[in-house]
Parts: sequence; C-alpha cells; structure tokens
Amino acid sequence: MTRFGIVGGGLMGHGIAVALAQAGHRVKVYDAEPATLAALDERVLRALERCGMPPDDMRTVRARITSAPTLSDLSRDVDVVIEAVPERLDVKREVLEALEARIPAVMPVWSTTSVLSLTEVAKGMRCPQRLVGVHWWNPPYVIPLVEVAPGAETDRRFVQEACDMVNGMGKTTVRLHRDVPGFIGNRLQFALVREALHLLEQEVCDPVTIDTVMRASLGLRWSAVGPMENADFIGLDLTRNILASLAPHLSAELTFPALDTLLSAGQRGRVSGGGLLAWPAGREEEVAQRLDSGIRRHLVEP
Ligand SMILES: NC(=O)c1ccc[n+]([C@@H]2O[C@H](COP(=O)([O-])OP(=O)(O)OC[C@H]3O[C@@H](n4cnc5c(N)ncnc54)[C@H](O)[C@@H]3O)[C@@H](O)[C@H]2O)c1
Repeated sequence: MTRFGIVGGGLMGHGIAVALAQAGHRVKVYDAEPATLAALDERVLRALERCGMPPDDMRTVRARITSAPTLSDLSRDVDVVIEAVPERLDVKREVLEALEARIPAVMPVWSTTSVLSLTEVAKGMRCPQRLVGVHWWNPPYVIPLVEVAPGAETDRRFVQEACDMVNGMGKTTVRLHRDVPGFIGNRLQFALVREALHLLEQEVCDPVTIDTVMRASLGLRWSAVGPMENADFIGLDLTRNILASLAPHLSAELTFPALDTLLSAGQRGRVSGGGLLAWPAGREEEVAQRLDSGIRRHLVEP
C-alpha cells in the first residue's frame, strides 16, 4: 500500500484517486476550490457506481480516499505526490514550487500533464530529477493505459519506480524514451481530430457522421488490432501506396477555423450546453455512463 497525495480534485484528480484506491492505495486529495473538495466523495461514489462495484467494496474503496483541507495537510504522511491541476505551465509550476517547500527532497512527484513538455514543467523545481510524467486516460479507473515519460533532468530510477507502481495496479504501462509534448496517445488522437476538423471545414460531412465512422469502424478495430499491426496485416507495400496517394490531401493546418467560429459564438462544448454537438441536460451523465460501460465492453488484453 502506497500513500498518494493528489493536488487538484477535478476530472482527472478524482478519477486517479478512484483508480489508486481500487488498487488498495490510500489517497488524499487537495483542491484550491472548496466546492470541488466538498463534492469529492459524491463524485467518487458515482464513479464506483458506474463501475458496478458491490456496496461493501464501495465502502472500503471510498474510505481510502480523504480530503485534505490545505496543501500542507496533503503533504504530510504521503509517499508520492501527483499534480492534477489545469493544463497551464504557470499553474503547474506554482503548485510544484508550493509542494516542494512542503515535501522531502526524495519524494517522487508525478505530473498528469497531457501535452506540456515535462522539461518545461520541471523548470524552476528544486529537484527536477524527481518529476515524472504519468499520463492517465479518462476515466483512469477504466482505461488501462498509463504513459510514463521523463523530463530532460528526471532520474531514471523515479521513472522505473513509477512504472513498477502503476504496473502493480494491473495497468498497461508504456514508457517513453524521452519527453515529447503529447506523449504518444494524444499525438495520435489529435492528428485524427485535426483531420476531422478539416473534413468539416471542407463540408464533406457533419460532426455526428465523423463520430459514427469512428465508433462503427476504427474505434472497434483499434481496440483489437493496433495501426502498426494492421499495417503489417494489410501489407507495407499497400500501406505505402495508400499513404503516398492520401498524404497530400491530409490536413497539415496550424489554425482551426471550425473551432474559432464556435468559440467566438460562446459554444465551448459540454460546459456551455453546445459545441460541435448539442448538449441538452442529461447528456453529460449519459456520455459518462456510455464511456465507462462502452470501454469495459471492448477491453481486450494487450
Ligand atoms: N481531461 C482529460 O481527459 C485529461 C486526461 C489526461 C490528463 N489530463 C490532464 O490532467 C490535468 C488536470 O486536468 P482535468 O481535466 O482534471 O482538469 P480539471 O479542471 O477538471 O481539474 C483541475 C482541478 O485543479 C484545481 N486547481 C486549480 N488550481 C489549483 C491549485 N493552485 N491548487 C490546487 N488545485 C487547483 C481546480 O479547482 C480543478 O478542480 C491537466 O494537466 C490535463 O491536461 C486531462
């Protein structure tokens, strides 16, 4: 059993807490927003319900997650600290500075950053060698993958220790040789999102159609056979021919007018009630439910 402290109890912070507690670890969570902290237990409960956990087990897992009213409370009696604050370099650096003033120099610190450079995040740290990128996928208590990467100054022992701990939870851990923005998964994901926006801008189809194509074809295939294995399966000669004829037509854009138009109209997606799709009341919970149960149904052993 390891004692974790999580700074930031938002979407990922509370989800990672659930994943760790399910694996038998103790977790303290601190959030700068008292309302977020007050809602923590309720959100944990809903996540466990979505997992279909029996009530007795649920009680045990919930008891392993507690709130820390201050950062100093969080920093006491923990073995590993995880920062899960918003994806902003200034916010992450500020939190790491405040944390380092409260924890021993040898304590590992994991960052949940999705696309920031870990080397940049670690700049200004007293002990940058202890910062490891440990990137979970939402919902972290369902999705097996956790990507682990070093910053330029990270001591490889901290990376190995993070991999061992996460592997010990039954997760599928991949270790990057070096720090690249977006790890592996988000680079693949956003290459695809860029192309989807390009198709919208070219008026080829609407957003619902993009999701239908993904959910009824590639989403299923890639949960069983990855794109590299599939390239071998169909043949590398065919793969090269397809790429040679398609690549000139794929987006290499660095601006995203389809998103700019929606955003300037205040359409931010789920949080504003509309975005690429409509988000009427009830859709948020329905999507969270479908995400959890859908992924569970398609889980395939790697
Ligand atoms: N959303 C995802 O699907 C996803 C997936 C993987 C990784 N991530 C990464 O995880 C991190 C957190 O993302 P999220 O989606 O959970 O964001 P979120 O906005 O849901 O949660 C962030 C939380 O941090 C709190 N916070 C802000 N400043 C703070 C401070 N100084 N001290 C303590 N708490 C503070 C906020 O009140 C909020 O509750 C980001 O780096 C993000 O890129 C997100």
